[in-house]
Amino acid sequence: MQILVAGDRGYLGAVVVPYLRRAGHHVVGLDAGWYDGCGFGRPAGGYEQRTGDIRDAEVDDLRDFDAVVNLAAVSNDPLGHLNPEATYSVNAHGAVHLGRVAKSAGVPRYLFSSSCSLYGAAGDEPVTEDAEFNPVTPYGQSKVMAEAGLADLADGDFSPTYLRNATAYGSSPLLRADIVVNNLTGVAFTRGEVRLQSDGTPWRPLVHAEDIARAFLAVLEAPRDVVHNRAFNVGRDEDVVQIRDIAAQVSAVLDVPVTFVAGAGPDKRDYRVDFSRICRLLPDFKPEWTVASGIDELVRDMHDHGLTADDFEGPRFVRLLRIRELLAEGWLDQELRTTAVTPALLGDPA
Ligand SMILES: NC(=O)c1ccc[n+]([C@@H]2O[C@H](COP(=O)([O-])OP(=O)(O)OC[C@H]3O[C@@H](n4cnc5c(N)ncnc54)[C@H](O)[C@@H]3O)[C@@H](O)[C@H]2O)c1
Repeated sequence: MQILVAGDRGYLGAVVVPYLRRAGHHVVGLDAGWYDGCGFGRPAGGYEQRTGDIRDAEVDDLRDFDAVVNLAAVSNDPLGHLNPEATYSVNAHGAVHLGRVAKSAGVPRYLFSSSCSLYGAAGDEPVTEDAEFNPVTPYGQSKVMAEAGLADLADGDFSPTYLRNATAYGSSPLLRADIVVNNLTGVAFTRGEVRLQSDGTPWRPLVHAEDIARAFLAVLEAPRDVVHNRAFNVGRDEDVVQIRDIAAQVSAVLDVPVTFVAGAGPDKRDYRVDFSRICRLLPDFKPEWTVASGIDELVRDMHDHGLTADDFEGPRFVRLLRIRELLAEGWLDQELRTTAVTPALLGDPA
């Protein structure tokens, strides 16, 4: 297949693109370049990388593709709060715009990287894809809006699919420090303690970045009627864990103590997710990672790259700090539009 991957130069993109290419697909990337220069090791190259904003995509840009994989987004809650209108503009209107031009160009499939955070404040029961949406942040709300807008485009010629990913973990050439397993591991590696920001009781659904890539591949290669206008929770039951269990695993691997940040209390983001649909309908999706093997992988790569605390907690790996830096430098405007070619502010990849 010829696949346009939007957001190919982000944390997941840098794992998904090589995975799709190894499976024999031809990939072209489209990315605004917000995190160029924020590498953890050398980002994958060897394929066409276009620099641009999904909000500006035109029909001619999408011709001759068999599928779009859209990973381009304001990718977490703190970033989403910076300017909610900009978050809706990229994550919802941008995603739907890309769907509209893809459809006009005759692209039959569109895989949208959604998130379990659209379920928001859920009860004690694991949420299935049919659960009500109850987003509690602009980021979560933007995913609800995008799915609704893309569903309006679905017809016999255009099949959107919504991959509602659990929180990712694991190494990537564009590492993120602001997701829970990576954060606990990186702080433990660089500072010698596992620092918990909450009391550790909340449940979190987790999934390794490469297993997310497996899910995208399984959707791309599935019969169209199985995935047409359908949502899939992406993760697995074994990886729905309590944060204190992650902390205990990191503590055991690195032989460091668990500490609690002053005032650490209960965390409202506490939910469980049901992953039975993806297992039932996409039998080719076979996740291979566990939180334990992901922690081992992270520690190995952090060691190989000589990761320091300042680097791990700075703009190279923390999305919010990087965007603040680009705004302060005037490289992005308030709508998160690039005002000039974004420089590799942070120098060569570590
Ligand atoms: N990482 C996770 O834990 C996780 C979990 C659930 C869902 N998701 C979703 O998966 C997708 C990818 O996440 P990630 O962790 O790789 O995020 P990321 O922030 O590392 O990467 C996002 C990429 O999108 C690009 N981008 C942003 N706005 C753009 C625009 N308007 N036009 C073109 N490119 C643009 C950025 O430059 C960046 O390279 C996002 O949609 C995110 O919401 C991620």
